[in-house]
Amino acid sequence: MSRIIYVNGKYVPEQDASVSVFDRGLLFGDSIYEVTAVIEGRMIDNDLHLSRLQRSLAELGIPMPASIEGIAEIQNALITHNKLEEGLIYLQVTRGVADRNFDYDDASKPTLLGFTQAKDLRGAPAIRNGIRVAVVEDRRWARRDIKTTMLLPQVQAKREAKNQGCTEAWMVEDGFVTEGASSTAYIVTADGRIVTRPNSHATLPGCTRRALLSVAETLGLTVDEARFTIDDALAAREAFLTSASSLVTPVIEIGGRSIGDGAPGPVTRLLQATYLELAQRT
Ligand code: PDD
Repeated sequence: MSRIIYVNGKYVPEQDASVSVFDRGLLFGDSIYEVTAVIEGRMIDNDLHLSRLQRSLAELGIPMPASIEGIAEIQNALITHNKLEEGLIYLQVTRGVADRNFDYDDASKPTLLGFTQAKDLRGAPAIRNGIRVAVVEDRRWARRDIKTTMLLPQVQAKREAKNQGCTEAWMVEDGFVTEGASSTAYIVTADGRIVTRPNSHATLPGCTRRALLSVAETLGLTVDEARFTIDDALAAREAFLTSASSLVTPVIEIGGRSIGDGAPGPVTRLLQATYLELAQRT
């Protein structure tokens, strides 16, 4: 039996319910959700769920898609349309639809969707018999080497950068630069070494990084795969970043302080030109 789904103001059969490929929930994980239990056709603790929904949205700067009362009405309509006696109501609010860009438009219209899931909550075997739990490391999200679309922290980092008049953010953990919000970070030290963090679970292993390091090797430059701090970066002669979308981009200022003489340096220029030439040739 097809359910009735709520999407952006409409109640439609589930086979007709859709959101855009460009929805930021899909592309960036730029969204929040709530799940409310329904027993005997009535929502349980829903005021708590809706106030947490409101708080989550406020924390992310996503406008409320409707008033709290308006959202509760939608939930009740879903219960009625789907004749839900017992189960769950899932709600999701995303920042809405826009061409892919980490930065967002504050005026973008959020996506709101909701659906029901019939489920025997009270009579579940787990409730009666109890369950077994495994012990796992809390790795939310410690596997940045996997190119997942869970990009919300980067969306926030880019917004912070923009607020500071910057284009990119260099993220710091335990005092060391991990990488850019969407790029790999490098410095060129006073003694001419190119330093970039070694690959690990802490960063995304950049494809451009890999290509660039072999360019550097071909040019006879010294590469030091090591962690560096912001102080190291400020003492560096040059800094730059790489990614598929920014190629080799000079970094001239970090946290409001100039790097070197505040202009793209010669090692960066050489790498930039050689990388581009090689990339176009191969
Ligand atoms: N981002 N680190 C992070 C966190 C990234 O998101 C990216 C790329 C890189 C560089 O990887 P590569 O050299 O393979 O592009 C490093 C892409 C460009 C993006 O999200 O738009």
